[in-house]
Amino acid sequence: MKRFFKILFACLAIALILFQFYPKPAKNEEAIVTSQHITAVHQVPANVESILKTSCYDCHSNNTEYPWYSRIQPVALWLDDHIQEGKGELNFSIFGTYSIRRQYRKLEEINEEVKEGEMPLSSYTVIHRNAKLTDEQKLLLAGWTTALRDSFTANYPADSLIRKK
Ligand code: HEC
Repeated sequence: MKRFFKILFACLAIALILFQFYPKPAKNEEAIVTSQHITAVHQVPANVESILKTSCYDCHSNNTEYPWYSRIQPVALWLDDHIQEGKGELNFSIFGTYSIRRQYRKLEEINEEVKEGEMPLSSYTVIHRNAKLTDEQKLLLAGWTTALRDSFTANYPADSLIRKK
């Protein structure tokens, strides 16, 4: 029995080593802040931006800060999956390319996800302890999204913000 586990362990170790040769996804990194970045198209106070940067950008922008273990398989693949999915739903780097209606809706979703504690993902905050939002930070984000949505309501006709039933 002891021998069986030794062989099993050796096989797993070899599989893990071989897995390292599996192609790693390209890094999610962009050198510049584009003109369509949320900070370029909307008012984002410094304290709000710093929260987004620490807690959201890794999965919701074109710039991820990669920890050292992120280049080890299968972590690399798993991480990239989160990034692609997160960016697909909401990408702060290209926020300005979204239609007004979509921006308006995303702002509400940000508020909801944060309020309900769904975002940032708990699998992320387990490692990135400082990304976990305090009650004060949640309130800050709520205030910001609400103020921005109010400015939309003031500047655009209602039917360009909410789809008619
Ligand atoms: C570890 C990666 C990760 C981090 C960090 C993260 N998210 Fe997400 N987010 C995702 C993924 C993956 C999805 C899509 C799947 C889902 O909804 O669970 C998502 C979905 C969302 C959605 C839903 C979009 C929609 O249209 O339904 C919003 C809003 C959102 N995130 C906001 C945030 C905010 C705000 C932060 C920071 C406070 C944040 N996320 C941090 C990975 C992340």
